[in-house]
Formats: sequence, structure tokens, C-alpha cells
Amino acid sequence: MIKKYLMTPGPTQIPPEVLLAGAQPIVHHRTAAYSAIFSRVLENLKHVYQTENDVLCFTSSGTGAMESAVVNLLSPGDEVLIASCGKFGERWRDLAGVYGLVHDYLEFEWGRPVEPEDIEKALRSSANYKAVFVTHSETSTGAVNDMQAIGAIVEDSDAVLVADSISGMGSAELKTDAWQVDVVVAGSQKALMTPPGLAFASVSDKAWAMAERSKLPKYYFDWRKARKALAAADPQTPYTPAVSLIAGLDAALALIREEGLEKLFHRHRVMGRACREAVKAMGLELFSPDDDRSSSVTAVRVPEKIDDKQLRRLTRDKYGVQLAGGQGPISGKIFRVGHCGYYNYSDIVVALSAMELALRELGFQVDPGAGTARAEQIFGEEGI
Ligand SMILES: Cc1ncc(COP(=O)(O)O)c(C=O)c1O
Repeated sequence: MIKKYLMTPGPTQIPPEVLLAGAQPIVHHRTAAYSAIFSRVLENLKHVYQTENDVLCFTSSGTGAMESAVVNLLSPGDEVLIASCGKFGERWRDLAGVYGLVHDYLEFEWGRPVEPEDIEKALRSSANYKAVFVTHSETSTGAVNDMQAIGAIVEDSDAVLVADSISGMGSAELKTDAWQVDVVVAGSQKALMTPPGLAFASVSDKAWAMAERSKLPKYYFDWRKARKALAAADPQTPYTPAVSLIAGLDAALALIREEGLEKLFHRHRVMGRACREAVKAMGLELFSPDDDRSSSVTAVRVPEKIDDKQLRRLTRDKYGVQLAGGQGPISGKIFRVGHCGYYNYSDIVVALSAMELALRELGFQVDPGAGTARAEQIFGEEGI
């Protein structure tokens, strides 16, 4: 028997309360009973988003909400700016290409955050941008972008700021309203501790004004239809929602409310710091930036002479710990430890311990406990 620890940055482990809520008999989605659950979900999502804006809810993976932002804000031929520092930043470029948008692509080194000053320079050089697209938490590298600084820059322009916080929402703080982020996209399967299948988009007044003029084709992801259904006395979605996932999300958001946002973000910050410090103490090299914002995922360079697939197979099949590999050009060069969502300090120790054991078995020199001891020291320093 092998006890399993899913330590990937999505999908993530699901609390038993959420699994049980999702296993209840189906409530019909055109009833007051469903609307009561859905209203609570919307209210609690706004709390985590730290926004008074509408938060729209779609039955899709996170990419659906990304696509919804493109097709609802823009018209054919519009100019947009994309600031990317990894695999998921590329997705904004792909979407802009598919929909015939004129796009300028600012590419930053993978493993580093984007430079807000470069966004400022680009916005100064052209007044035509209708939207700026950024990834909040770049899951492929662990880098978390400074949305506060970027929000302050974009706010002064006519463009709307769109952030992909699919792996950040609920683990790396994003103050949607205070930081003036017009559209924030998220998904259920990461720090929101719910199975995959739900996606969200918050929409500011500035973004709604742009949406009113948008001419790109849309049907399922039409924000105006979603807003109309939300505004009904019994809030709904235009089409059949994933009722069981909404029930699960309701339970997950209740857990988040119970913990409180301050403690939630503190827990993630400490897990991220402990993981980074432990990795360094094991003689490994970080790929993620070594900063406290990077609290959702820790990316680590695969040491020379170690085969990434073999390493991750060993941690999974022998020690039960599933880690994630690298994506795109960094496939085989890094591995990633996910710690966004239903994770605690002891989970970090388990993941580090599996890494130490597997690395030693593959011939990498690391003292037993080098990483776990360092993580425990950090927990001590942080008053855990
Ligand atoms: C930052 C980021 N953006 C986009 C996506 C794509 O989301 P999905 O696979 O739910 O469509 C992911 C998923 O890993 C992500 O982490």
C-alpha cells in the first residue's frame, strides 16, 4: 500500500469536506435551493478575490475563463500588450493570435518575474493598447508577478488589465480592487481546493464598458448573458452548471473563510519559504525566484546526471509523493513542488523527505534530513 500525496500545482489535494459536499444528491440548478448555494459561493469568491466586482462563473477549466476575457473585451484588429515570463504567459499570446488581435509580446526570462517598468515603457510608446495581459502566478516557473505595481501603471492608461491568477487565487495574495486589476481569471483546481472544472472571471466597471463595445464572436462565454443570469432574484448561470463542483466549492470557500485570508496567505508564504530554503540546504538550485511572493509552487533545477522522470517516478511510486515536471523548453530541466491549497507544514516535510530519499537513491549527495531540518528551522523562525 502506498499513501498518496499529490504535491503538484494543480490539480491539488481536496479536503474531505469538499469531497463529501460534491458527493451529495444533485440539486436542480433552476431552484431556490441551488441559488442559495450559488449566492454563497459568489459572495465568498468575492471575498477571496478582494473585490466588489461581479465574479462570473463558468463550467470549464481555467483556460475557458482566459478565452472569455479575450472574446468579451476585444474586437477584431484591436491592439493588446502581453507580458509573459513562462508557459502560461504564452497562452495569452496564442489566444490573441487565434482571435486576430494585433499583439505586442514582452517576453521575460523564464524563472524571473516580468518587469513592470517595461510595461510602463510600452504603454508610453503606444496609446492604442486596449488590454494588457499578465500571468499573476506563473505556474510553469513559480514566479509571481507584482500585480500591485502593474495595476498602478495600467490604471493610468485606457487599457484594461487582465490577470491570470489560476494558480495564485487563494495562495498568493491579489487585492483585485485595491490594485486595480480589471479582470482576474481563476480556476477551481488549485488553491481553491476543488476538483477541476470551474473557472471564474471578475470584471471591473472599466472592463464592462469595454465589453459593451466588444465585437469578437462569443456564445457560451458571453459575459453579458452571465451577468444577466447572476442579477436574477435567484442567481444562476445561463447554462447548466457543474452542480456538484459548485457544492464542493461552497465547502472549500467555507474552509477559507474559517481560516481567514491573513492566515491563509501567511501559511502559503511560510510553506513557500520553507520549501525554497530546504531545497537550497539540500544542495539543489532553485529555478523559482527566491522571494516571498512565490508561494504557490517551488521550481527546482534537476541536478546534473539525474534523470528528472526517474526522480519523479521514484518519489511517486516508492514514497507516494507526486511532483510535477517542467513544461515546454524547460521540460526535463526542472521539477516543481506544488503547495497551493490544501497543504500544511507537515506536507512540505513529507515532500522534502521523499525528494531526499529518491535523490540519494539516484546517487545525488545529500545528507539525510538536510532539507527537512532546514524547513523545520524556518517553521520555528516563523513562529509556527
Ligand atoms: C497560470 C495558469 N494559467 C492557465 C492554466 C490553464 O488552466 P486549465 O488547465 O485549468 O485550463 C494553468 C493550469 O495549470 C495555470 O497554472
